[in-house]
Amino acid sequence: MHKVLVIGGAGFLGYHLCNYLLKKKKYKIDIIDNLSKGKKDQSLKELIKDPKIKFFHHDVSIKKIKLKERNYSYIFQLAAILGVDNVIKNPSNVLIKNFNIQINSLEFAKKQKKLNRFIFSSTSEIHIGNEKLKELNFPTQENFKIILDDIKNPRTTYSLSKIYGEALLLHSSLPYSIIRPHNLYGQRMGDLHVIPQLFTKIDKIKNNEVLPLHSHNHKRCFCYISDAIEQIYTIMNNKNAVNTIFNIGNNLEEISIKQLALIIGNIVNKKFVIKIKEFNNSSPKKRIPSLTKVNKLKRTKFKYTNIQDGCLKYYEWKISN
Ligand SMILES: NC(=O)c1ccc[n+]([C@@H]2O[C@H](COP(=O)([O-])OP(=O)(O)OC[C@H]3O[C@@H](n4cnc5c(N)ncnc54)[C@H](O)[C@@H]3O)[C@@H](O)[C@H]2O)c1
Repeated sequence: MHKVLVIGGAGFLGYHLCNYLLKKKKYKIDIIDNLSKGKKDQSLKELIKDPKIKFFHHDVSIKKIKLKERNYSYIFQLAAILGVDNVIKNPSNVLIKNFNIQINSLEFAKKQKKLNRFIFSSTSEIHIGNEKLKELNFPTQENFKIILDDIKNPRTTYSLSKIYGEALLLHSSLPYSIIRPHNLYGQRMGDLHVIPQLFTKIDKIKNNEVLPLHSHNHKRCFCYISDAIEQIYTIMNNKNAVNTIFNIGNNLEEISIKQLALIIGNIVNKKFVIKIKEFNNSSPKKRIPSLTKVNKLKRTKFKYTNIQDGCLKYYEWKISN
């Protein structure tokens, strides 16, 4: 049995990761979370009923990790202040808390006797500055130079905290993998992301009403959470993934926000008239990850290459919850 610690394990990515690892029947998992964003909902309660999972309520940005365990083989660091609205509301919090979370997590990792890997979840958003200067190639490779956006822009604090988090880990002398997720979606995701927000908006309007939409021509490749977890598991279990940075996501289906709205309208059986809304939220116009590196370890067999199927699965979960 390998022991795994998942910091931020009650959140979207963390919950699905723990659930997946548990099913492999070879891991004992400890979760640390302060439940600032993750919820102790029915799914999490069911998960932590398993004797192989323990849950610790703890705020890693305030207090050091005091667990006695020294035999973790893997530490996942997924906790962060995130979400554009949260970030813009309190940018200083993002810089301080995301830094403290990473420092306390790394300090605890250094106490482990035989750590195989510290896996840090960074973000595709580290390239937001390149995107603004139109200096980005698509699909974007992991080694593409990083250009910092205007540091007065509150949104920059999130990417800055992740760049710093990556650097802290790179220079920690711990064995690491850095993952940069690109637009993951699925059951139990945070409400403040584009897919849940569109479902809520479209659900609320009446048939043939106006749907105000901003960033309608921005394009994304959305990746269903279970496909992303397969990629992360490949990275976790491959020795060639040590001390390497990986994009995580889907590069097969690029769609615009307008197309996404129409797909969601189809699922919830609503027709509407789209009214383009001007909105300057410095959101990148386009994002496609290069998956060459993760595919070199093991080619990703996507189960959800069609966003309609993934959105339908998400919607079924949403209405039953
Ligand atoms: N979901 C995506 O598409 C995506 C994209 C890019 C990057 N990421 C990164 O991946 C990681 C996981 O993302 P997610 O979508 O699961 O987010 P999430 O918000 O659902 O999960 C993060 C978890 O960390 C917990 N947390 C926050 N601050 C904490 C603290 N101080 N102490 C303990 N726990 C704390 C939250 O309660 C939450 O459960 C994040 O670091 C995020 O920046 C995710």
